[in-house]
Amino acid sequence: MSDQTATAAIDIRKTSKIYGRDRDTGVVALDQVSLAIADNEFFTLLGPSGCGKTTLLRLIAGFEQPTEGEILLFGEHLEGLPPYKRPVNTVFQHYALFPHMTVAENISFGLEMLNTPASEIADTVKEVLGLVQMETLADRKTDQLSGGQQQRVALARALAPKPKVLLLDEPLSALDFKLRKEMQVELKRLQNETGITFIFVTHDQEEALAMSDRVAVMRDGLILQVGNPNEIYDRPAKRFVADFIGDINILKGKLLSQDGAQATVKLEAGYEGNAGLPMDVTNLGGEVSIAIRPEQLSFVAEAGAADLSGSIQHISYFGSGFDYEIMLPGGETIMLQLQNRGAGKRAYSVGDQAHIAISENSLQILAD
Ligand SMILES: Nc1ncnc2c1ncn2[C@@H]1O[C@H](COP(=O)(O)OP(=O)(O)OP(=O)(O)O)[C@@H](O)[C@H]1O
Ligand SMILES: [Mg+2]
Repeated sequence: MSDQTATAAIDIRKTSKIYGRDRDTGVVALDQVSLAIADNEFFTLLGPSGCGKTTLLRLIAGFEQPTEGEILLFGEHLEGLPPYKRPVNTVFQHYALFPHMTVAENISFGLEMLNTPASEIADTVKEVLGLVQMETLADRKTDQLSGGQQQRVALARALAPKPKVLLLDEPLSALDFKLRKEMQVELKRLQNETGITFIFVTHDQEEALAMSDRVAVMRDGLILQVGNPNEIYDRPAKRFVADFIGDINILKGKLLSQDGAQATVKLEAGYEGNAGLPMDVTNLGGEVSIAIRPEQLSFVAEAGAADLSGSIQHISYFGSGFDYEIMLPGGETIMLQLQNRGAGKRAYSVGDQAHIAISENSLQILAD
């Protein structure tokens, strides 16, 4: 039955989900999405509220059926297969442990529902509690655990049936900042140790970049870009992706020449140089939007060494660094970010004229 050509853990082919009667009157939650996720990958769906992340997970898990398209798991068509027959498990944002049961009982309950032999259950419970480092709390009631410990139990419970794919729908969003950071490391380790394919949903871009092998950035039921964290951060293809992830300056310029994924541009503010070019930008000689990250800019002393010059409009201090807002000739403003390397000492004051260097290969043309 297996399709020999399919190596992807999950192969989503032109899949749409429309809630309601049709495209015109219903909600198009996913629109002709195609995506292949490799086995053992830590893959993240990133996008704003309502973009279709949960819908995509629910289709993979089998809680919803696609309106159009098909989904294959390790080469097998999933159509008509109920959720409990899929080698997939989900950790939900509100993971709802049974408070009157112990940690161990919470995990074994699901296995009993799947008719796992009793002899196997005890071993599995032990094994998954080991994975999340909760062996010593097996007999504790779950309402007597901290938030992070509860999250570990929810993870252990989802891992217990030994799924090939684990779907994680914003599992860390209820945790405070520190705990969330800890759990990020924990999840990454867990994925490495088990080799299970993780599909992780978040609308936190830092979390996505820190944890993932690859990220899909979504908006309005579409996948706008798929890439590793570097590609997504350094080579955003679209304005939305650039804006959604991190701080960025978007400047006006002209596309002078192009050669594959490389181009030369002239910024309205004066500088001429190389820029990355997404496939769908082809308007040679025309206006383009050009992105540059604030940390790719630096100050230089000599006007002769500068790529741009401007006057300092505003300086904000945020502890580990400074943001300098600089007005360029022509009226655009640009943000330059510097690390704090000298007890909060500022390089310039408001009103100063500053000379700016652009790091090599850091300009990126954006499609709309
Ligand atoms: N059962 C439903 N009936 C009708 N519309 C729905 C249903 N479930 C989701 N939607 C709509 O589909 C779109 C995608 O919803 P989805 O829950 O997938 O978004 P999401 O990316 O997970 O958002 P969030 O970050 O807020 O969880 C939204 O516009 C939502 O209102
Ligand atoms: Mg959601």
